[in-house]
Amino acid sequence: MKYQSVFRPGLFEGRVAIVTGGGTGIGRCIAHELAALGAKVVLASRTLEKLQKTQKEIEADGGLADSIVCNIRIEAEVQNLVAQTLERHGRIDYLVNNGGGQFVSPIENISLKGWNAVIETNLTGPFLVSKEVVTRTMADHGGVIVNMVAEMSRGMPMMGHSGAARAAVVNLTKTAALEWAQYGVRVNAVAPGLIDSSGFESYPPPVQEALRSLPKEIPVQRFGTEAEVASCVTFLLSPAAAYVTGATFAVDGASSLYRHAFQLPVGRTMPAYQGFHRGIPLADADGGPQGGGV
Ligand code: ADE
Repeated sequence: MKYQSVFRPGLFEGRVAIVTGGGTGIGRCIAHELAALGAKVVLASRTLEKLQKTQKEIEADGGLADSIVCNIRIEAEVQNLVAQTLERHGRIDYLVNNGGGQFVSPIENISLKGWNAVIETNLTGPFLVSKEVVTRTMADHGGVIVNMVAEMSRGMPMMGHSGAARAAVVNLTKTAALEWAQYGVRVNAVAPGLIDSSGFESYPPPVQEALRSLPKEIPVQRFGTEAEVASCVTFLLSPAAAYVTGATFAVDGASSLYRHAFQLPVGRTMPAYQGFHRGIPLADADGGPQGGGV
């Protein structure tokens, strides 16, 4: 059984792609699809064993892959990733900035250390890898970058650090698309909603349980698959997307358009401002007038 890509076999023949976070979850699936289409895929993350496991899978399926350990938060390691890739494979055509991560916490419990760690992983990392790849090679011959973000268009309760970083990457994607069009480099982002992936298992069991109950809140009524995200990334890397740059594609079953995906804590109500002396009294939950303000 081979990867069931809808794209043409050999589409990426002779091309070299870096996929950060390529050993696990959505990144692993993206790596498999690119390799199935003929790309040589360089898997990069902090843990060699995870990379090598995915590399072996790809090779067993007849694809080409390599593994390079890289913490995307550390500039010297990013420089090494790009230099090693060029040395071993001669070129870099595609970069998928997929590596990222966060932990679940309300904003008031996020320490500065935790905040900085999430910002560095999800924002500084993609910045460092993109900059290195473009300055070292893509500026000379063009290329395509896809930034994996997350659906966070209406805020990201319990993941405020990640939501802020992902929103920043959406904006960075636009600026990079504008600045790097001159080099023939396209830059887009993909914003997955709830995807059934191994990423789920990194959350504590109560959070996993809460996430598992969410499909009824998703208009499409199910989680997305890793392959549904990978195919969007593949399209954006392909020549079919030659006129698409600076865009963010939601792969979310329309959950970003639907209002009830987050169960928020219910607390104190906010008093209404009723400055107009001839205004209509606002009915509160009990039907009585509200008013005053602080
Ligand atoms: N995936 C998650 N965090 C990462 C990091 N710091 N470097 C590379 N890949 C990652």
